[in-house]
Amino acid sequence: MCGIVGYIGRREAAPLIVEGLKKLEYRGYDSFGVATIGGMGLEFDKHKGRISENDQSAIQLKGKIGIGHTRWATHGIPNDANAHPHLDCTGTIAVVHNGIIENYAELKRQLTARGHTFRSDTDTEVVVHLIEEEYAKKKDLLFAVQTIVPKLEGSYALLVISNNEERMIVARNASPLVIGIGDGETFAASDMTPILEHTERAMFLEDGDIATISWSEVAIYNQGILVTRPLELIDWSLEDVKKGGFAHFMLKEIYEQPQAFYNTIRAVTSETLPDFVHNPTSVTVVACGSSYHTGLIFKYLLEESCRVPVRLEFASEFKYYPPPIEGLVIGITQSGETADTLTALKQAKARNCKTLAVTNILGSSVSRLADATIFMRAGPEISVAATKSFIAQLAVLMQIVNNISGRKCSAMLLHAHQAIEEILLIDLTAAVSVCTGAKDIFYVGRGPFYPVALEGALKMKEISYIHAEGYAAGELKHGPFALLSPETPVIALCTPGDTYAVMISNIKEMKARGAPVIAVGNEGDSELPEIADIFIPIPGTTPFVQVLTSLVVLQLLAYYTAVALGRDVDKPRNLAKSVTVE
Ligand code: G6P
Repeated sequence: MCGIVGYIGRREAAPLIVEGLKKLEYRGYDSFGVATIGGMGLEFDKHKGRISENDQSAIQLKGKIGIGHTRWATHGIPNDANAHPHLDCTGTIAVVHNGIIENYAELKRQLTARGHTFRSDTDTEVVVHLIEEEYAKKKDLLFAVQTIVPKLEGSYALLVISNNEERMIVARNASPLVIGIGDGETFAASDMTPILEHTERAMFLEDGDIATISWSEVAIYNQGILVTRPLELIDWSLEDVKKGGFAHFMLKEIYEQPQAFYNTIRAVTSETLPDFVHNPTSVTVVACGSSYHTGLIFKYLLEESCRVPVRLEFASEFKYYPPPIEGLVIGITQSGETADTLTALKQAKARNCKTLAVTNILGSSVSRLADATIFMRAGPEISVAATKSFIAQLAVLMQIVNNISGRKCSAMLLHAHQAIEEILLIDLTAAVSVCTGAKDIFYVGRGPFYPVALEGALKMKEISYIHAEGYAAGELKHGPFALLSPETPVIALCTPGDTYAVMISNIKEMKARGAPVIAVGNEGDSELPEIADIFIPIPGTTPFVQVLTSLVVLQLLAYYTAVALGRDVDKPRNLAKSVTVE
């Protein structure tokens, strides 16, 4: 979950790498570093902290070949020594790494016994010392990397440079790595965001690929054999990765949701859906975090509309406690790189299930793993908290439900973005002032609004740091009622339908225990404004659309609460957008 960027070309490498790392900070931001090959040999600079707040010294490095890293600590605390790049004992080879070397402890023991000196607590440092040994034999960096990679267990995207070579060697296994082909220059990075500004032409490496990138060419090897990877044109616009006048990426991305939803609805049609998704007899969904919540909304909608049973599993549990499954397995992952979701899908394939991936990232690991992939059209999402990728996932999943149910909802889905647009301008001042004063907040809903409550609570806790829990509304009385007080607001999702009356009773029960209630309900509702402390009206006439609009309300509520509390909205503490470790 770190971000890496490499450059070789006609321009000075360090400033380009620094700018690239700033765009990758959503992958981790506890420390950073850059190394270049300049006239004086290998130069490097690395520090604890964020590159966006501390880039000056790195920019001074000279040379037209370089690598850089922004870190999300796994092995070793965030400090200068553990920041990448890591250097070998001779100080002439540098490595940056995203992933985890699982057998590093044993390798470190062997290397130490052979006389190597370690300067960090990271798993990564073993890589550069292994390369050092092989480089000494033939003075060939490609040979050295090819020789040591089979010794590594775990995941890695590696960028390697040496002051004796005018090239960069890169290697990938289970961590994303893309090569951007520019005009007289080549980039290697964790994803397209740092590359987009310079070129839209890219090649996505596959597991086992090792490439040598020189001034004039890129040669990719797999198992020692020269291979080709297709050159793809990435149509994300540069504007997508800029804040464009918004205070935070998160707010910009919330505002991009009508477009993301509409574009995705248009892209997913019965013609573009793979055959095996048209008529499943049962479905298993594997996912993590917010993607798990979209999976749960999908379960409610598909079971209700089509009577097709859906089993939902946390991908992180699935690996160790695999349930009996058959038929269609859907892996939902906006990044396409979540380690647990990838493992669960691999296991499903091994059990002869048909696998479908739903992801936002072209060329991501999941898209190469699954039998078929549906790409949402959210565009790049920079803020760590998922918003538009969540809405776009829902667009894909709602189209799948629509398709299986005989396309009864097509017109409604084609217009749903208008209701999302309408809700963006809602005034949440009163609700925000209740939330900013709270230590704990409960979110409750029933049916598909239960996962909306879970997601609302997740958004609140991850960016405002206020403790928040989502509950199925009927469950609150089985324990959490003991916590209700005037300092514990409850946010209740109460929309028209079979559960409206029981939700009204639940709200009254919560009020009777002193909890302030913020009710989200249908615009025009006459009862909710009477019984709730604050009523937030939402547009939309069907559960599908009200799921979307209520969700956007909860995203905005979390956002404005976090801003009022002065939180670092786009980069909340301890989190990362793409979790490539178990
Ligand atoms: C991280 C992110 C979450 C995301 C989860 C799953 O925890 O911070 O926003 O929901 O990973 O990510 P995925 O890419 O698989 O959807």
